[in-house]
Amino acid sequence: MTRTLAPLALAGLGLLAACGAEPKAEPADAEGGADGGDTAPVEFYADVAPVLLDHCVRCHQPGGQGPGDFTDPAVVGAMAEIMLAQVDAGVMPPPVADPDCRDYIGSEYLSIPDAKRDQIAAWIDGGKVVGAPPDQPLGSPIASELADPDLALLIPAPYTPSFSDAANPGNEYRCFALEHGQADDFFITALHPLVDQAEILHHAVLFTIPTEELTPEHQSPEGVDCINNMDSTDGMVAAWAPGALPIEFEGAGMRVRSNQTLILQLHYYQGADQPLADRSGYALRIAPSVEREIIMAPFAKYGFNIPPGDAAYSATERIEWTSSFPTVKVWGSFPHMHRLGTGYRLWVDHPDGSSECLLSGEDRYDFHNQITYMFRDPAVVQPGDTVSFECTWDNSAENPNQTFDPPQNIRYGERTDEEMCYAFTLVSLGGL
Ligand code: HEC
Repeated sequence: MTRTLAPLALAGLGLLAACGAEPKAEPADAEGGADGGDTAPVEFYADVAPVLLDHCVRCHQPGGQGPGDFTDPAVVGAMAEIMLAQVDAGVMPPPVADPDCRDYIGSEYLSIPDAKRDQIAAWIDGGKVVGAPPDQPLGSPIASELADPDLALLIPAPYTPSFSDAANPGNEYRCFALEHGQADDFFITALHPLVDQAEILHHAVLFTIPTEELTPEHQSPEGVDCINNMDSTDGMVAAWAPGALPIEFEGAGMRVRSNQTLILQLHYYQGADQPLADRSGYALRIAPSVEREIIMAPFAKYGFNIPPGDAAYSATERIEWTSSFPTVKVWGSFPHMHRLGTGYRLWVDHPDGSSECLLSGEDRYDFHNQITYMFRDPAVVQPGDTVSFECTWDNSAENPNQTFDPPQNIRYGERTDEEMCYAFTLVSLGGL
């Protein structure tokens, strides 16, 4: 995500504060508009507000992660040109996997279709007419909570990030143990984070570790700094970024063993002016048994070497699904790289020569917006198939996420200035 436009937009907001929140009515271009005058005018409440509610407001509202309240016509009026520029640059809403490769739950909200982008443009061209507010306030279509959770597990106490790590200004990764309190093995059948301070919570990753590896720091109210050991590759359960919908497995679930502890990694970033105490957590639905057990298959590429200066270096892992492998149903996947990551592709080549796309995010990977994509139509992988996963990185000096000056050879490693290439993929045994 770029920050270059921030001062401009904030100046816009400041201006509004200075002259009162009067919606601007300057239809200067309206008459000369290229579209002529015989179409109904595009109005804020009728045409633009629903678009913003579907695609922007979950982050752009008071207490949300992004600046400004996009339900307020005055704010939107002041920011509209910048909003359009951010949409056209592919920066907003934050990029996600391409639903045309394979559709996933929530895709209709996580990326904005061209026709809806054009509504915003037409509203600007038409002079930003506000129109009559609706009788009922419009609600957000995004489920921000998991319905009927069995467990609502919060970190031990409110935690105030200090952002004191000089190597990672404005960012802090903190890991906390979540006590599930179950004596026996159980299955997670649905999950979604409980977000307390949305302004500072950038993403949340849930994983398991053997309870014998638990440290007192994990259980302390301060948690443990975990920016460089975030990748618990065996125990990943799910990754969440703002906007992602609750994950629900129909008749299936992920096993948590009685000797495993859930760890919640919270990525805080300095999105608020003053220090905020956060007590986030995870809501789970659980069951003692399920029809199908879902397991995490970490498709990974290890032996890569990203040359310095290369702005689009790709590495691909190919896994031949031999007859010793079981047939699996693929429910979803979570692509994961570090800061230099820019794109990924996960696909299956079938023995008949056809190729099936599972995830595609060329130029759409954002380290700060990591999501588990749950497929609307799960795929089947069986012996004879080949599964491929490709990662692309930008190791040029121009990449704003570049750590090294000059750029260095980058290999696999756990530190954020090393790289990874994972598709943490949720599978169950057996076909459809
Ligand atoms: C998942 C959360 C999220 C969604 C959804 C989202 N934004 Fe943002 N937006 C942010 C964050 C966070 C920032 C601040 C980025 C930064 O400072 O790097 C931001 C910044 C912006 C900015 C720049 C504001 C400034 O002061 O520079 C604009 C404009 C913007 N968003 C427009 C939009 C529009 C339009 C949509 C919907 C089409 C949208 N955003 C959807 C999180 C989101």
